[in-house]
Amino acid sequence: YEKVWNLFLKIILLIQTFFVSAAQPITSKLDEGWWAYKDVVQGSFVPVPSFWGLVNSAWNLCAIGKRQSPIDIETSHMIFDPYLTPLKVNTGGRKMGGTMYNTGKHVSLRPDKAHLVNISGGPLGYSYRLEEVRLHFGSEDAHGSEHLLNGQGFPGEVQLIHYNQDLYANYSEAAKSPHGIAVVSIFIKLSENSNAFLNRMLNRDTITRINYKPDLYPDTTRYITYEGSITIPPCYETSTWILVNKPIYVTQMQMHSLRLLSQNEPYKIFLSMSDNTRPTQPLLQRCIRTNINFSKQGRDCPNNRALRPQWFRLTT
Ligand SMILES: *[C@@H]1O[C@H](CO)[C@@H](O)[C@H](O)[C@H]1NC(C)=O
Ligand SMILES: *[C@@H]1O[C@H](CO)[C@@H](O)[C@H](O)[C@H]1NC(C)=O
Ligand SMILES: *[C@@H]1O[C@H](CO)[C@@H](O)[C@H](O)[C@H]1NC(C)=O
Repeated sequence: YEKVWNLFLKIILLIQTFFVSAAQPITSKLDEGWWAYKDVVQGSFVPVPSFWGLVNSAWNLCAIGKRQSPIDIETSHMIFDPYLTPLKVNTGGRKMGGTMYNTGKHVSLRPDKAHLVNISGGPLGYSYRLEEVRLHFGSEDAHGSEHLLNGQGFPGEVQLIHYNQDLYANYSEAAKSPHGIAVVSIFIKLSENSNAFLNRMLNRDTITRINYKPDLYPDTTRYITYEGSITIPPCYETSTWILVNKPIYVTQMQMHSLRLLSQNEPYKIFLSMSDNTRPTQPLLQRCIRTNINFSKQGRDCPNNRALRPQWFRLTT
């Protein structure tokens, strides 16, 4: 009953939203931040992932898109592509600075403009500049990553979000344009020792001076890649995803302190930021490529193979 009631309330609120927006096209609610991952308990309706595409026409890709992210990576659907070269990470060999933000939805780090980090090679045809490092994590160890591996989640996922600096002036322009975004994604696992970069990030230094390459981009030689979308509204389908085949580690303690981060101001009811993940989206006609030689027969993927005849499937 509670579920039915909640759904009913949501529909009523949604209808109200439409009426309000029809009467008054630019309401303060229909702004780019008006969305959530979870239901808000305190009565006000904020659209959760299943509603993102319905509440704002600029976000309709979230509902009707055909190349959405995240996805469940089924290893039996991967195509082995030995021509996928290692990703090139270029930091200029310097230590980087950045600023940490608690956006209420994510913990994120924005590198400062003085020290640029860019990536190229691998599946990328252009050079992409690092714009943001974003953390997704769960309230329990069994989930928290946006991508799944054979239906299995990880405690968290670090997303290094880059924009195409060859074609576009900035992130906002790139995000809505072809080949605009490249996201390097790394699963977070728990262990006794933690990754040096995350250590700094989770110690909540406002300014972090770290060496990106060895600390953050772990081993970018082996990865899984596919074409998808950004995982928050407006869900533009402009992202090349690169899921690195090596996790990074945080300690149980650090995971715990992440889960204590609040979505809202301290004087409000505590709403944990954890489980800030969009549910997985259908793969549909897309291919998942990898340069991991898992010596297993890949699924036939005619569309892409026609475009790139040099690919081959393992037939052993
Ligand atoms: C990529 O970064 C390196 C080091 O910061 C820099 O030397 C190089 O010019 C950058 N490439 C582009 C295309 O901006
Ligand atoms: C991004 O670049 C476009 C095109 O050059 C420009 O119109 C826009 O104001 C820029 N946006 C930001 C946030 O800098
Ligand atoms: C992939 O692995 C198989 C079995 O280990 C091996 O025979 C094959 O040569 C490998 N292919 C490439 C391109 O490395």
